[in-house]
Amino acid sequence: MNMKCSVILLAFTVSYASGISNRSFPADFKFGVTTAAYQIEGGWNEDGKGESLWDWYTHTYPDRIQGGTNADVTCDSYHKYKEDIEILKDLGVNFYRLSIAWSRILPEGTVNHVNQAGVDYYRTVFQLLIDNGIVPVVTLYHWDVPLTLSEIGGWTNPLLVDYFADYARLAFELFGDQVKQWHTFNEPQSFCMLSYQGPLRKAPGYDLPAEAVYQCNYVVLKAHAKAYHIYDDEFRQKQQGNISIVLVAHWKEPASDSDADKEGQNLALQFEMGLLANPIFNGNWPQVAIDRVAERSKLEGYPRSRLPEFTQEEIDYIKGTADYFGLNHYTTELVSFAYNVTNVTEYPSFDADRGVLRTTDPSWPQSNMTWLRSVPWGFRKMLNWIDQSYGHPAILVTENGWADDGTSREDPQRISYIQDYLTALLEAIYDDGVNVIGYSQWSIYDNFEWLSGYMAKFGLVYVDFSSPNRTRTPKSSYYYYQKIIKTKCLVDTCDAA
Ligand SMILES: *[C@@H]1O[C@H](CO)[C@@H](O)[C@H](O)[C@H]1NC(C)=O
Ligand SMILES: *[C@@H]1O[C@H](CO)[C@@H](O)[C@H](O)[C@H]1NC(C)=O
Ligand SMILES: *[C@@H]1O[C@H](CO)[C@@H](O)[C@H](O)[C@H]1NC(C)=O
Ligand SMILES: *[C@@H]1O[C@H](CO)[C@@H](O)[C@H](O)[C@H]1NC(C)=O
Ligand SMILES: *[C@@H]1O[C@H](CO)[C@@H](O)[C@H](O)[C@H]1NC(C)=O
Ligand SMILES: *[C@@H]1O[C@H](CO)[C@@H](O)[C@H](O)[C@H]1NC(C)=O
Repeated sequence: MNMKCSVILLAFTVSYASGISNRSFPADFKFGVTTAAYQIEGGWNEDGKGESLWDWYTHTYPDRIQGGTNADVTCDSYHKYKEDIEILKDLGVNFYRLSIAWSRILPEGTVNHVNQAGVDYYRTVFQLLIDNGIVPVVTLYHWDVPLTLSEIGGWTNPLLVDYFADYARLAFELFGDQVKQWHTFNEPQSFCMLSYQGPLRKAPGYDLPAEAVYQCNYVVLKAHAKAYHIYDDEFRQKQQGNISIVLVAHWKEPASDSDADKEGQNLALQFEMGLLANPIFNGNWPQVAIDRVAERSKLEGYPRSRLPEFTQEEIDYIKGTADYFGLNHYTTELVSFAYNVTNVTEYPSFDADRGVLRTTDPSWPQSNMTWLRSVPWGFRKMLNWIDQSYGHPAILVTENGWADDGTSREDPQRISYIQDYLTALLEAIYDDGVNVIGYSQWSIYDNFEWLSGYMAKFGLVYVDFSSPNRTRTPKSSYYYYQKIIKTKCLVDTCDAA
């Protein structure tokens, strides 16, 4: 890092708007930052790494990515990890949430061929983190399935349950002495619901009838549960770690006071968060989803529901497979009830099954991503809803962040977002009794933002993508987050915890 720059920026003072909480975070509250392998590593085909779904997607369909870009190099963290970890140490985070690129250690996805250079890379990174007092919190799957496994159907193919379980077991064996905190999947909602149907398609970018969306959720839940049980049965006692999954949802606020829109709120939350969280925390799909999809499938001429049915054995096997609740949360949407169960569509769609129209309130501050507006009270409601719906779990906020166009090192909007969202988080803890144990910012660096390419930037640290060095420069939000971690306080002086 450029220390001269730090000195100048340290003089930067944050102005505190009224309404920013002056309560201290609990003494054992953990702060971190999050990244994902594909978005920061680069080195896409180096040292024996296999091709992943996103390598293929960005190379094959550059027209689907803003600016026609890809992550072949991106932040170049594959080479710059030492500098990265110096920055993390300077920032002072308790943990670093990162992911393993499956195809870097298993080029074809299967365990018959292990790429030692990839194993060495991650062992070096994890050790350097530990040596610097930073806990590595590792996601096994952050959307970059090896291309070979994608080509046999990816997450719609039940074979992936065993391939993922093999990969997970190998990762526990290879890295379990260093890594004590695992996440199986990042946001299955994003790669199941935004990849197989509809206009905003992430890789593999298919537009299939709704059964693909449900089949993906079904396979992912079984793969997650299998990895969890492998950890529990074969590794937990020896390695003394824990394992969970990271789920995402925007808060859903009814667009009106009508009963229909309140029902729309329930439908939207259950189809977005409940489809994944209910099987894991309560057992089985949410009943409203079982009933609605069965009824609509029948009316649309299907011989059975397009939502796969779990056996009782599977329900029991999946239930209880998270040591805490990993939550990614960014924003809030307004929902209105739109599709009756009887509103059948010619092309069976997940959206119509879910049954709502989603909009936003133009008065909510808008980020550089059209879907991301600052609505801190929605975060507090989301935390409360999870607390109440899933039996008062410990919640780790695994991602939360703000996008701008990344042109300035002064980012007061990101600072406001952090102040407002962390104030809402403190209210959830102290006023509502929600057990939030930690918080991670997305993201430490500006990086490759999937379909948005390098257009939208989420970093606390600016990355100069035009320089071969990918020079990193902290933004003002970096220094503000550093202060929060150090003082456990959002303003100058807080009451004691
Ligand atoms: C999970 O493990 C991490 C690392 O040991 C620890 O900090 C955290 O408190 C654990 N969380 C739970 C809910 O057990
Ligand atoms: C739902 O369908 C019923 C019966 O067709 C109809 O009476 C009702 O108005 C519909 N509601 C909405 C919100 O479309
Ligand atoms: C659903 O059906 C009702 C009643 O037939 C109709 O008024 C409404 O426009 C339909 N909604 C959609 C989104 O197609
Ligand atoms: C995001 O920033 C880019 C680059 O400045 C700009 O072209 C784009 O319009 C912005 N998008 C939004 C939604 O503000
Ligand atoms: C890149 O980094 C090297 C070594 O740190 C330095 O010598 C060089 O001047 C840098 N180049 C640019 C364009 O920043
Ligand atoms: C925190 O704010 C409250 C009022 O909201 C005030 O009474 C209290 O003195 C403040 N504490 C500190 C340490 O500033």
